[in-house]
Amino acid sequence: MKHEIVEKNIGLMIVLIVVAISFGGLAQIIPLFWQADTTEPLDGLKPLGAMALEGRDIYIREGCNVCHTQMVRPFRAETERYGHYSVAGEHVYEHPFLWGSKRTGPDLARVGARYSDDWHRAHLYNPRDVVPESNMPAFPWLFENTVTGKDTAAKMKALRMVGVPYTDEDIANAAKPFASGEVKEIDALVVYLQQLGTLLTQKR
Ligand code: HEC
Repeated sequence: MKHEIVEKNIGLMIVLIVVAISFGGLAQIIPLFWQADTTEPLDGLKPLGAMALEGRDIYIREGCNVCHTQMVRPFRAETERYGHYSVAGEHVYEHPFLWGSKRTGPDLARVGARYSDDWHRAHLYNPRDVVPESNMPAFPWLFENTVTGKDTAAKMKALRMVGVPYTDEDIANAAKPFASGEVKEIDALVVYLQQLGTLLTQKR
């Protein structure tokens, strides 16, 4: 019997099991490559400006994404707390995306424009100054380190190669916002935070 051949040959069985299971995955994953609303940018979506782009890299360097997701799931408890659920079209220019999976702190997908710049600065300098029970770490060095912008153009070029529509003008002007030599990391990070998720919420 053919079935017996499979049962007595563990190597063959493993291969066949993997093939069988992969159909389930493929049936879910492959259509997403062609489904327009998962690959096309949301109306009005723009690549991050130079400041926000540098801010995003600081966000990644400091591991903010390890404690904070950027993905509001389509459940009532989530949308009431954070706002409109996340849609794929908001994230198509993000490489890598920062959806995350662990929420030690709240989701930040829609935190943009929710607090003032001063609130963010105070909070990042020492979270306990504004949220007494907070266990978020303090990031005081962001107020000392300067952003030179010397790599910003190269970062934009790299992102353009993977499909983010930076223009030649964006790239030529990439270092301009930092020219004064006085832009601190906190400035860039706050610009990044303040635009998070605002494209969709402004539309409602
Ligand atoms: C060890 C985990 C941890 C890390 C790392 C962390 N946070 Fe937090 N964050 C928290 C917790 C817990 C809270 C909730 C208490 C509070 O507001 O301080 C929070 C709150 C926040 C809030 C307020 C959100 C809201 O909706 O009220 C912002 C904004 C924020 N964090 C930004 C950041 C940024 C930016 C970084 C990286 C520089 C960062 N966090 C790193 C744990 C973390």
